[in-house]
Amino acid sequence: MNNKIDTKALLEIDRQNVFHASTHLKQYAHGEMAGRIITNAKGIRIQDSEGVELIDGFAGLYCVNIGYGREEMAEAIYEQAKKLAYYHTYVGHTNEALITLSERILKMAGQGMSKVYYGMSGSDANETQLKLVWYYNNARGLPEKKKIISRDRGYHGSSIASGSMTGLPLFHAHFDLPLERIKHTLAPYYYRREDDGMTEREFSKHCADELEKMILSEGPETVAAMIGEPVLGTGGIVPPPEGYWQEIRKVLDKYDILLISDEVVCGFGRLGADFGSIIYDMKPDLITVAKGLTSAYQPLSGVMVGERVWKVLEDGTDQWGAIGHGYTYSGHPLGAASALCNLDIIERENLTANARDTGAYFQQQMQATFANHPLVGDSRGIGLLHALEFSSNKYKREHFDPNLKVGPQIAAACMEQGLIARAMPHGDILGFAPPLVVDRGDIDEIVARAKKAIDKVTDNLVNNGSWKAA
Ligand SMILES: Cc1ncc(COP(=O)(O)O)c(C=O)c1O
Repeated sequence: MNNKIDTKALLEIDRQNVFHASTHLKQYAHGEMAGRIITNAKGIRIQDSEGVELIDGFAGLYCVNIGYGREEMAEAIYEQAKKLAYYHTYVGHTNEALITLSERILKMAGQGMSKVYYGMSGSDANETQLKLVWYYNNARGLPEKKKIISRDRGYHGSSIASGSMTGLPLFHAHFDLPLERIKHTLAPYYYRREDDGMTEREFSKHCADELEKMILSEGPETVAAMIGEPVLGTGGIVPPPEGYWQEIRKVLDKYDILLISDEVVCGFGRLGADFGSIIYDMKPDLITVAKGLTSAYQPLSGVMVGERVWKVLEDGTDQWGAIGHGYTYSGHPLGAASALCNLDIIERENLTANARDTGAYFQQQMQATFANHPLVGDSRGIGLLHALEFSSNKYKREHFDPNLKVGPQIAAACMEQGLIARAMPHGDILGFAPPLVVDRGDIDEIVARAKKAIDKVTDNLVNNGSWKAA
């Protein structure tokens, strides 16, 4: 069936009509870069219109956690659509799927989470987080307490507020971001620490000290919340150094500052537990979820609100009436039905435990294969999330000349080996986040293909004289 599609003709129509995310617009529109039509997918593999099959080592955008092509999901969505395809959640309207889902995910999250507000994307959920935090401090009579501290290398979305909270230059430059009230503190990025002599624990304390300095220089009475991913994702897949979140939480508590755990990637199993905040004992006040909530079979995100914030929001509505926040698609029944079926699959197939156990094997194999590779400076991760960071001198942790585009070259070489791994947008870092259904055989295949690709690029760099091993 696939080869009946006229790929060239369709891509030409695509170039003329589609505005693609994260794409060089001119090169694509003018046919100077390739396009790919994805036609079908099953398990951990996707196929394009030319019949090329690829292992998806990044689960789409770390979201298709249960793997592709689950008919059970299609049926759950279909059944819900037949019964009730849509109704809104304004002024107390609800639907059964939403009721069941909300009780279920709040219970999974624990940590004092009390209510959940729904959106369609991680970006809009983080946009909601910021509005709630502002409303919260207005309701407490603290109108000056509005600044949000995020981290360099954090990723929280690409809308105005969430894009501001993102700490990557690519998402700010030429868009007049970040917003004034959003500040960025040091990333918990031990590999690139300035002081070689620091232990992980000392570095965690150093990050907390830097945060405290920022709070004091801004004025604690102006700082409302901090947002962070349990494990930094798009900024380079960076698990926190030992003791990091405890040190951070101490500082936040001292100055009455809320903590938002952005679990868009970490939530629902990827790290080998239901939530990253549980693994790292973050004690968040608010949690953002998306991606793994439905494994991307439907767009759905959520803002979980802890008891302490919820009480104040309730009081706010006593003063000011109904809360002025709502999306047409908030609590969409198709999203809720899809999330319920997705969670059933995760539970029934023990996918969170698989992310922990097969994840441990994955971490071990990546380390064993790449830690001593001349091109690899760092091999790090947790569960089914891993990064290889490339360095021109691994002993000195030096950066490659960005013009060499080592990360993108390696991602392209992986593609030639039939493997999708993601060149992360900042630095020469290759990211892996396979669906949670992988087994050890799949992991061996992913590691073997990545090794071939990395060896090939290494040879090319040496042969064309642009690099020699330290
Ligand atoms: C941690 C985190 N937060 C928020 C987002 C934004 O989600 P979306 O792309 O659905 O807007 C992402 C997307 O990758 C993410 O990784």
